[in-house]
Amino acid sequence: MRILVTGGTGYIGSHTTLELLQAGHDVVVMDNLANSSTESLNRVQELSGRTASFVQADLLDPQALEAIFAEHSPEAVIHFAGLKAVGESVAKPLHYYRNNVAGTLNLLAAMDRHDVRTIVFSSSATVYGASEEVPLVEDMPMDAVNPYGRTKEQIEDILADLGASDERWSIALLRYFNPVGAHESGRIGEDPTGVPNNLLPFVAQVAVGRREKVMVFGNDYNTPDGTGVRDYIHVMDLAAGHLAALDYIAARKGVKRWNLGTGNGSSVLEVLAAFSKAAGKDVPYEFAPRRPGDAAVSYADPSAARAELGWSAGRSLDDMCRDHWNWQKQNPQGYATQA
Ligand code: NAD
Ligand code: WQD
Repeated sequence: MRILVTGGTGYIGSHTTLELLQAGHDVVVMDNLANSSTESLNRVQELSGRTASFVQADLLDPQALEAIFAEHSPEAVIHFAGLKAVGESVAKPLHYYRNNVAGTLNLLAAMDRHDVRTIVFSSSATVYGASEEVPLVEDMPMDAVNPYGRTKEQIEDILADLGASDERWSIALLRYFNPVGAHESGRIGEDPTGVPNNLLPFVAQVAVGRREKVMVFGNDYNTPDGTGVRDYIHVMDLAAGHLAALDYIAARKGVKRWNLGTGNGSSVLEVLAAFSKAAGKDVPYEFAPRRPGDAAVSYADPSAARAELGWSAGRSLDDMCRDHWNWQKQNPQGYATQA
């Protein structure tokens, strides 16, 4: 297929673009480079031995979107582009609603005009909010607790309404749990701007010497070791989940929601231990107060994706830490270091 990948130079988009190219799909990547660089795409092309088209464009620019559809005639869209920093979304809600929600409306309008009605959307486990019931199942109510999460919830609602209004649409809403790791080559990986918000990139930057120690947010949760438990999923398993979802919806109409997680929870201390083992060194840490808005435990029931997509996430926490470390140690400053 010819696939438009929005946000394709970003972390998950670059790994999925690699999988798409290796599976023989033709890819056009569009990204405004707000949180990424084209170096990821250079490396994806080097790894796959294939080229993808690249257009630097913003979802908020309807004319640019129109030109992409007119020139490249994609048959399906995988929509990663969006802003994702929870704290920033609390400080700048309008920026987040405009970029993520209005940007998606522009994309959907362009798709409709060009008779492209197959879309895989990057949603998030964040739509479950602070639910205390685990595992999380797709039919549980959405209850996001911050503006970022509410943009995901609103886009899911928009896509569900769209699917209900017009039976020609094929829509997959993929709720990612905690994506980590990197391609096994270490050539592509996660390269956060500024201080990482998420645990794994922070741990990796401490291990590589860019930061002094990890602050463990809370050790008094009702969990086996008192620290928060999450469902970490290897980014290459996640990428494969997109291809499975695309295959599924390319052959069927309607709206589907799938959790993409492993179904296993790991605590912050377990992650630190696994990463220290992978890096062959202790990663210094210190306990700190809980981070506001954090749930104690979050992990998926991934059985719907397994049953319907024939997909499951097979890589272990050790695999995730090994590959994340391999990327970080080869690229201590991320993509900025070397070509
Ligand atoms: P990322 O920031 O690495 O990638 C997102 C890309 O979108 C970036 O390259 C950015 O430049 C681009 N972008 C943002 N706004 C744009 C706009 N208006 N026009 C064009 N491009 C724009 O993030 P990621 O981790 O790869 O996440 C991809 C998607 O998955 C996002 O929608 C994110 O919300 C979602 N998601 C991520 C996680 C996670 O923990 N990484 C978890 C659940 C869901
Ligand atoms: C994991 C665990 C922290 C950093 C976030 C978003 C969510 C989704 C995935 C996009 C928690 C603890 C973290 C640190 C720590 N993104 N922690 N020290 O909060 O589960 O989910 O990313 O959709 O929307 O909210 O992931 O990696 O930030 O935290 O102790 O420096 O690590 O308290 O228990 P989270 P995370």
